[in-house]
Amino acid sequence: MDSQEINVVLHENRTFPPSKEFQDQAHIAGMDAYRELHKKSIEDPDTFWAEAADELHWFKKWDQVMDDSEKPFYKWFTGGKTNLCYNCVDRHLDGPNRNKAAIIWEGEPGDSRVLTYYDLHREICKFANGLKSLGIKKGDRVAIYLPMIPELAMALLACARIGAVHSVVFAGFSADSIKDRILDMDAKWVITGDGAWRRGKPLHLKPIVDEAIEGLNCVEKVVVVQRDDGDTFDCDMKEGRDVDYHELVKDQSKECPAEELDSEDMLFLLYTSGTTGKPKGIMHTQGGYMVYTYLTAKYIFDLKPEDVYFCTADIGWITGHSYLVYGPLANAATCVMYEGAPNYPDNGRFWAIVEKYGATIFYTAPTAIRAFMKWGDQWPESYDLSSLRLLGTVGEPINPEAWMWYHEKIGSEKCPIVDTWWQTETGGVMLTPLPGVTSTKPGSATLPFFGVDAAVVNEAGEEKQAGLLTIRKPWPAITRGVYGDPERFKDTYWCNWDGKYYFPGDGAKIDEDGYFWVLGRVDDVVNVSGHRIGTAELESVYVEHPTVAESAVVGIKHEIKGQGLASFVTLREGIEGSDELKKELDELVAKKIGKFAKPEKIIFTIDLPKTRSGKIMRRLLRDIAEGRALGNVTTLADPSIVESLKGQYSED
Ligand code: PRX
Repeated sequence: MDSQEINVVLHENRTFPPSKEFQDQAHIAGMDAYRELHKKSIEDPDTFWAEAADELHWFKKWDQVMDDSEKPFYKWFTGGKTNLCYNCVDRHLDGPNRNKAAIIWEGEPGDSRVLTYYDLHREICKFANGLKSLGIKKGDRVAIYLPMIPELAMALLACARIGAVHSVVFAGFSADSIKDRILDMDAKWVITGDGAWRRGKPLHLKPIVDEAIEGLNCVEKVVVVQRDDGDTFDCDMKEGRDVDYHELVKDQSKECPAEELDSEDMLFLLYTSGTTGKPKGIMHTQGGYMVYTYLTAKYIFDLKPEDVYFCTADIGWITGHSYLVYGPLANAATCVMYEGAPNYPDNGRFWAIVEKYGATIFYTAPTAIRAFMKWGDQWPESYDLSSLRLLGTVGEPINPEAWMWYHEKIGSEKCPIVDTWWQTETGGVMLTPLPGVTSTKPGSATLPFFGVDAAVVNEAGEEKQAGLLTIRKPWPAITRGVYGDPERFKDTYWCNWDGKYYFPGDGAKIDEDGYFWVLGRVDDVVNVSGHRIGTAELESVYVEHPTVAESAVVGIKHEIKGQGLASFVTLREGIEGSDELKKELDELVAKKIGKFAKPEKIIFTIDLPKTRSGKIMRRLLRDIAEGRALGNVTTLADPSIVESLKGQYSED
């Protein structure tokens, strides 16, 4: 955020108290009750979390709620035996939820499937038995590259059931990215699909996987789910390696006992971007993640038995894991899952889905809201959205203007909005309003969830009105670290304040009511349409190109995406920049990472602004890219570079 925007946010003083109707039926009875329970959860986390965990099924109760003997590698519910899949499905089979819809899935062409909890149990058991027949067992890593079809949710749950570690790679990533992840996690199995529908066109996924694993000896089997009958997505099947999913599960038993797993057994790995060129495999485990996603989903989405909950996130990202699959299913919720684009066949698709299934809760990203705003009010106005009672946002700061539009046009000024701040590493929501309890302010994620001891501090760890966001106590879903790299976990998240507090990488302000306003990343991670991209990842891609000597990538403000990327590239001696070269560099980024990481602009430059010690001054590049007056340039080795770059950028 630039300083002008920060000012807008900080002078935002509209407040929206919860309606009486909402207050009357909320899980938490008002602000005093919230404060009291929050205080209790901080002062006596063991009792608070034990009570929450007691709402779930354990084959054996834990011995210790939180074990901090190996700080900062905290462990939760140690000695306990549980299974997250059991808690998401089996736990609901003996009561009124047995035949309740668990997943209402809608494909982009309009086809749909409804899976009740009973159906889901059967399908997961068959899937899990199929995975076992391929030799997959507890602790094995399974890479998943599937589109948004029900089998994706089932694949996660089937792995969780048998204790295999799933690692979903978002279906927008390229073959090279899949390969890197498979190698890092040393996966012998891949679950993929032949394809999906995207903006009315077939998207073929299997060839991408084929390319990714070409020559990789570690991959033994590839399970391929067919999206449709017929030959739309026809793909080559390699004999001996590729297994047709439908054949695999056809004759499997519909019973597969859930493995009794240790609370600290690994549940999944999810790769996310950091400040180096190499994405990190964020680890989450069964017990703590389960309790945290269960409780946050229950309170934050105010889940009631009759709710129809529509989360638009892709399961390829953490939001889809925690709040499309695990959290809501652990609460026996009915989840709407949609395969395709929000603007197919027209810009009203999400609203058509809300109307068709009577969605009561809608959770999306600010980038989507800004796109809806741009498309015009006529789209939501043409549908009956009266079933909605609660709205949510996630993934990036929401600008007050978008918040107000969401409130008025989608929420008819009656639905509370929960602006939820969290990350892949936190596993679940950390800062959020509680519906029916917290008065909201447009642009603020308001207050910490139970058990979250959040503060805004300076480098010395002193509490301040503005500075770095920090969390001063562990919570059950805190990541167990970076796969294969314990030092990186310590260096990235625990490097400040003598390693006592967790540092998420965001800057924040706190207002007179104690409300948190998350202002964005303070490191070299950029949030493009809610997708986290490390600028170092792009930089290392560029230097692979034979014409490139050096590059620096920065995040810039983008009207719809929130942030976009601007790449400053220095070419080797004697090479001229051209549009063709820009295209080649874009193609390289698409090949190495994925199309979604393509920058808004590439600027060729004879040099980059550096300090006398050779450090690239990204702050100045951001100023140039966003057309701002340049900050302090006195530390530059050669100040003329920024002037020439500035001229060049504005002409470009
Ligand atoms: O910068 C914060 C931003 O997204 C980052 C986490 O990205 P990721 O791990 O991909 O997870 C996204 C979905 C949880 C954070 O460090 N962020 C997420 N939610 C918000 C946010 N920034 C401001 N407000 C939010 N509500």
